[in-house]
Amino acid sequence: MSVLQFFEKKRMGQKITMMTCYDYTSARIVADTSIDALLVGDSVAMTIHGFKDTVSATVDMMCDHIAAVSRGAGKKMIVGDMPFLSFRQSLPETMSVVQRLMQAGASAIKLEGAIGNEKTIRHIVESGVPVMGHIGLTPQLVHTLGGYKVQGKTDHSRQRLVEEAQALQDAGCFAFVLECVSADVASEITKNSAVPTIGIGAGRETDGQILVWQDVLGLNIDFKPKFVKAFLNGAELFKENIDLYVKAVQSGEFPSDAHCY
Ligand code: KIV
Repeated sequence: MSVLQFFEKKRMGQKITMMTCYDYTSARIVADTSIDALLVGDSVAMTIHGFKDTVSATVDMMCDHIAAVSRGAGKKMIVGDMPFLSFRQSLPETMSVVQRLMQAGASAIKLEGAIGNEKTIRHIVESGVPVMGHIGLTPQLVHTLGGYKVQGKTDHSRQRLVEEAQALQDAGCFAFVLECVSADVASEITKNSAVPTIGIGAGRETDGQILVWQDVLGLNIDFKPKFVKAFLNGAELFKENIDLYVKAVQSGEFPSDAHCY
């Protein structure tokens, strides 16, 4: 999948499917699925490193995970997240982060927020790097937003989202994420947008959907937001099978002759 196919899918009314991915083993598995594209999101700081928010993600962390995913993901398109404040320094510093993420194996980058980032996005796009925007609940701004809250519920917040969506299109984004946005606002933005919208907690009408790996596979035992559907009870499956392994070792059933040299 290339950025051109994002537009093609929107034009054809076909849903775009994305999920996050953070490591080589998972990338090897997802490479053989029909998922359209992968995001190495800064959520890696929480899901893999156990931090309480994405503010802790660093450029080094992102590059390590993008590189690992790119070694396993085959031909899947990989979007790499620009971590907290990494695109809010000078333009040369921003571009050196973009360069590192792309050289680690990303084929596009994503950054959070619109207003105030237009020039930066335009410059990155004009440099030949596709940019995915991200508005709505932008977790890097958790301290400004006052928590993880649904966006677009008031007229003011709704109007701001509409303006941000327009700003991202004008700046040249090839798609943008709408996170935790009232379904009706997401639908209105999607209808009026020339570029595809990718929803997470933004209802059914967006051009595509993205979910976090651990959420799709039921591996997140601490937290389950309303918008998440686990398609597997992965945590239970892991626990049951780890206990089977322990029992097999304890009983002497494993290793059997078949597993011995
Ligand atoms: O980092 C991430 O996982 C994301 C998705 C939630 C869109 O930005």
